[in-house]
This record gives sequence, C-alpha cells and structure tokens, in this order.
Amino acid sequence: MIELRATALLLHLLLAVIWVGGMFFAHFVLRPSALALLEGPARLRLWCGVFERFFPWVWVAALGLPASGFYLIFAGYGGFAGLHWSLHAMSATGLLMLALFAALYFLLYSRLRRAVAQEAWPEAARALDLIRRIVVTNLSLGLITVALGAVGRYW
Ligand code: HEM
Repeated sequence: MIELRATALLLHLLLAVIWVGGMFFAHFVLRPSALALLEGPARLRLWCGVFERFFPWVWVAALGLPASGFYLIFAGYGGFAGLHWSLHAMSATGLLMLALFAALYFLLYSRLRRAVAQEAWPEAARALDLIRRIVVTNLSLGLITVALGAVGRYW
C-alpha cells in the first residue's frame, strides 16, 4: 500500500506547513502589525475573528498529524519497536502540541470570546496574553518537530 503511505506522508507534511506557518505568521507578522495600527478593543476583536477562522484548521492539523503519523509508524515501520529515536520524539512533541492547543482552545479561547462579548477588556487582554504564550511554545515545538521530521533520521 505504498500509495496510501505516500498520501499519508503528503497530508502529514501539508498539515505541518499549515499549522506551523499559521502560527509563525500570527506571531511575527500579524501581531506587530495589529499592535502598531489598532487600539486595544479593536485589536482584541480582530484576534477573536482571526482565531475563529484559524482554529478549525488547527484542529484538523492537531488531530490529523497524530493520525497520519501513527498510521505511518504502524503501516510503514511495523510499530514503535526499533523505531528511530527522532520519531519517538516527534510522537511526544506532536501529542504535547495537541494537548497545549486543546487547553488553549477550551480554557482560554472561550474566556477571550466571553470577555470580548462583555467588553471586559482587561480580562480579554489577560486571556490573549496567555494564548500568545501557548502559541509561542507550540511554534517553538513545531519548528523543532519539523527539524526532527526533515533531518532527524541523520542524527
Ligand atoms: C503524534 C504525532 C506525530 C507522529 C506520530 C508523527 C510521525 C511521523 C512519521 C512516521 C513520519 C515519517 C518519517 C519518515 O518516514 O522518515 C513523519 C514525518 C514528518 N513529520 Fe511527523 N509525526 C507527528 C507529528 C508531527 C508534527 C506535530 C509535525 C510538525 C508540526 C510533524 C512534522 C513532520 C515532518 C516535517 C516530517 C517529514 C516529512 C518528509 O519526510 O518530508 N510531525 N512524522
């Protein structure tokens, strides 16, 4: 089933590009632009709109990466026994990224949306700051994981 494995690998790579690229753009491009151009309330509303559109894609990536990755491990390598250490590490960082995103989504994003709807700006700003910290953590983990996937087998 080489075609199925190739499809899973292609999907895996595309999902990694979408998730990590989206976080990179949000942190290094959109955030400084929003800080420079918008006042607090407009900025917080902008982030709510951005997350509303980006997070469904993140769910697809955060669930699709482990699904396609574990498929590749079991169908391509016959399971975890004898697997290169970099793929053990990738499984760990991938699941950690999923757990962090789930915490961000269910605890902080709902708090941000509620606070913005009630125009409770200091509360909304606190929630956004915590979301930013998790995004920076996941971006760092994502870049490390991409390095593991790209060149880990040579280390
Ligand atoms: C539980 C989660 C994950 C599992 C089980 C997993 C598993 C795998 C496996 C088995 C491969 C194929 C390696 C090979 O044949 O050499 C792979 C490749 C790769 N993975 Fe993951 N992965 C996971 C999460 C992630 C995440 C979160 C990212 C990035 C954000 C990522 C990025 C990559 C990249 C860039 C490759 C290289 C693709 C290529 O060969 O061109 N993976 N992964």
